[in-house]
Amino acid sequence: MLLFSLAGISPFAQPGPDRSFPVVIRGVTSVTPLPDGIDIRAGAAREKIVALRNGILRFRVSRTDTLPEDASWAVLAGARHSQAAARPITTVDFVGFATKRLRVEVDRRTMEVTVLDADGRVLQQDARPICYWGNSFRIDKVMPANEHFFGLGDKTGPLDRRNEAFTLWNTDAYRFQESTDPIYKSIPFFITYQAGAAAGVLLDNTWRSSFDFGKESRNSYSFGAENGPIDYYLMYGPSPQKVVEEYAWLTGKPPLPPLWSLGFQQSRYSYMSQSKVLAVARRLRADHIPADAIYLDIDYQEKDRPFTIDRSRFPDLAGMIAKLAAEHFHVVAIADLHIAKVPGYYPYDNGVANDDFVKNPDGSVYTGVVWPGPSVFPDFTRRQTRRWFGSLYKKLYGMGVSGFWDDMNEPSIFNSPAGTMPLDVVHRIDEPGFRSRTATHAEIHNVYGMENSRATFDGLKLLKPDQRPFVLTRATYAGGQRYAATWTGDNSSTWNHLRMTTPMLENLGLSGFAFAGADVGGFAGSPTMNLLTKWIEIGAFQPIDRDHTEKGTQPQEPWVGGPAQEAIRRRYIDTRYRLMPYIYTLADQASRTGLPMIRPLFLEFPDAAADRHPLDIDPEASSEFLLGPDLLIAPAPFSDQIDEYEVEFPSSDWYDFWTGGKVHDPAPRSAPNPVLPPDPARLVPLTTHVHPSLAGLPVYVRGGTILPMQPLVQSTGETPDGPLTLRAYAGNPGEGRPCGGSLYLDDGITEAYRHGDFLRMKFTCRFEADALQIDIGAHEGAYPAWWKSIQVKIYGWNAGQRNFRVNGNTVAAVECGRALCITIPDDGRGMEITAR
Ligand code: GLC
Repeated sequence: MLLFSLAGISPFAQPGPDRSFPVVIRGVTSVTPLPDGIDIRAGAAREKIVALRNGILRFRVSRTDTLPEDASWAVLAGARHSQAAARPITTVDFVGFATKRLRVEVDRRTMEVTVLDADGRVLQQDARPICYWGNSFRIDKVMPANEHFFGLGDKTGPLDRRNEAFTLWNTDAYRFQESTDPIYKSIPFFITYQAGAAAGVLLDNTWRSSFDFGKESRNSYSFGAENGPIDYYLMYGPSPQKVVEEYAWLTGKPPLPPLWSLGFQQSRYSYMSQSKVLAVARRLRADHIPADAIYLDIDYQEKDRPFTIDRSRFPDLAGMIAKLAAEHFHVVAIADLHIAKVPGYYPYDNGVANDDFVKNPDGSVYTGVVWPGPSVFPDFTRRQTRRWFGSLYKKLYGMGVSGFWDDMNEPSIFNSPAGTMPLDVVHRIDEPGFRSRTATHAEIHNVYGMENSRATFDGLKLLKPDQRPFVLTRATYAGGQRYAATWTGDNSSTWNHLRMTTPMLENLGLSGFAFAGADVGGFAGSPTMNLLTKWIEIGAFQPIDRDHTEKGTQPQEPWVGGPAQEAIRRRYIDTRYRLMPYIYTLADQASRTGLPMIRPLFLEFPDAAADRHPLDIDPEASSEFLLGPDLLIAPAPFSDQIDEYEVEFPSSDWYDFWTGGKVHDPAPRSAPNPVLPPDPARLVPLTTHVHPSLAGLPVYVRGGTILPMQPLVQSTGETPDGPLTLRAYAGNPGEGRPCGGSLYLDDGITEAYRHGDFLRMKFTCRFEADALQIDIGAHEGAYPAWWKSIQVKIYGWNAGQRNFRVNGNTVAAVECGRALCITIPDDGRGMEITAR
């Protein structure tokens, strides 16, 4: 029965924002078991719950007999149509089903859903029936006191979303601050995490939506949208890594990016001429600051018109690109989506001729003002339009531009009070799964930027099928990781913004975007020299490392401020390049599994504390992050603080990356709280104290790691000269993680790796008090190694033994700093190193 609640009768009878009373879905009237779930009627309403996998459920609800369209911009068709077997369950009180891993119970009276795992642990429970107010709906879930929330892309604020509320509506948020919401992206995916057990929720609804994690209500969290389908997914871990991987299965993995995009990138709005670009590149090389990319912002274009070149400033763009390429520099060019409304300008004429622009309700083409003045906007939800837009890159891509930057695609519009298109602008949908239909901007807004980046990505693929596209987008939606890397938009050159980058990038990584960065040095305003230095230090350990700033600010390249500052900055960028084998291996892992490159501690160590709270919520750990599973970066909680601070470790066995020394616990293993006695449940395995300094950034390596490193190069295009280094850090075998590491390598640029042209190696290790064994796996794949020999550096193991056995032959180790070193030729067949 569909109940229209009346005041005094129902607890849900509060009027909604539009003052109407809610329509509450409840009262099961009939149930149809399905091979993969159940189809329930509640009077006129309907709810279908199915299992896509044993640990993934999909919920669709409708107020009528017709379910929402089985379509999605985010979820892959293959995933949406997968089925896991369900066994029906019926009792007097509820109807439901069970998969191998989950049990779903729907209360017959209230229609409230409870999801449990195979052990009967409640993973998610409705706090009240689903309510509609007009077209908007809200779903409320019970929120236990120890539940934490992560994800939602790069929303600002603390890593944990608990006690915060957010709106998803892509917004150009120039100079956003910590409290600004909404900002550029809409990724309606979050992870719930309770005492080590995680689940994920994707609300696949593109309309303006909102998420409240206990801000309004003390005991429940909720999500909803102003219109559109109730169509959401639940992914079960229990490990948080599993949730991230399940989310990648649903929405896609990020493709392996070109290697150069993981190098240091230099940008500014704008390098105003060809000679300036060349001068910046020359200086980077002259000063021995490794770098791989230089960006062209809007001023390379004629009158800010995308896909044109201002020949007065860039008389020979192709020649400039060729000169840069000879020095191993790649050029990334901006090409915004807005098309200047100027007859005679090819993209405009051509787009008009093909009817490729979005329209006003009266059928005229919609016009809005952006950088080039009055502009029109491609109808990216049509395949034909994306195809056309993708072809516009032909000239620039043909000239050798390596990557493209899709900006302003929220879309940002200057002459509109809302900063974007009116909600009644008409888009057309031509997409498998959707009916061929028109849709208002209110429905399409949040996916518009993603479809822009999709047009770019697919266009580049068509133009050069064997080259990996590099696309950087500002706005996006869930699933956008399939097409583009991203950055956090127009941040500011302040210490607080530097602090904010870590949780923003961590949450982006948890939300599918492994390849993400924040403007290093800050976009708005000019950083002090110390701020720029510290930012370059931290940025060197983040996935996309791009220095960028706005017009009218002071120079922000790594050399500004004099040789002393430059030397510190160089050391960190150098370190990034020495770590490139590790970084690229993480990129490969991200592209295969969806696991992010930078990770909060709880993602790797959900069991670190006895009460299994995520360590990241401890104030002491709030600025820490992991690069992959093995490196812990621990800037000061406030990056400019001068007071000593405590670093919390998620396990007991860590080494200082810089010195190779083992971290020793100087103090009781708990966060120093002067007021409260230490709570044993919250004790952490290891802590240490750090005195902050400008030149220092604490970086630690997990014991039991084999970390691949390479000789310094000035770009990823340069072949390293010397041995591959494997730093082996003796590890405590009791920590439940395998001792070892891996390495991935390929040509860095083409798709040949998909056909076997890669090199993969696995390393394992075992350390005992008086014996060790390190196995270096044989080379897998056809790609040749650049090294002839491998230098193994062993840290933290010193049994006095100097004679190692390598495949049965004796090799003498030498002391090198705090390590023992042996260098051995690598014939690719693998080797076993032992000592006892
Ligand atoms: C936007 C972008 C910024 C870019 C500028 C000019 O503000 O966020 O990165 O430099 O536009 O294109």
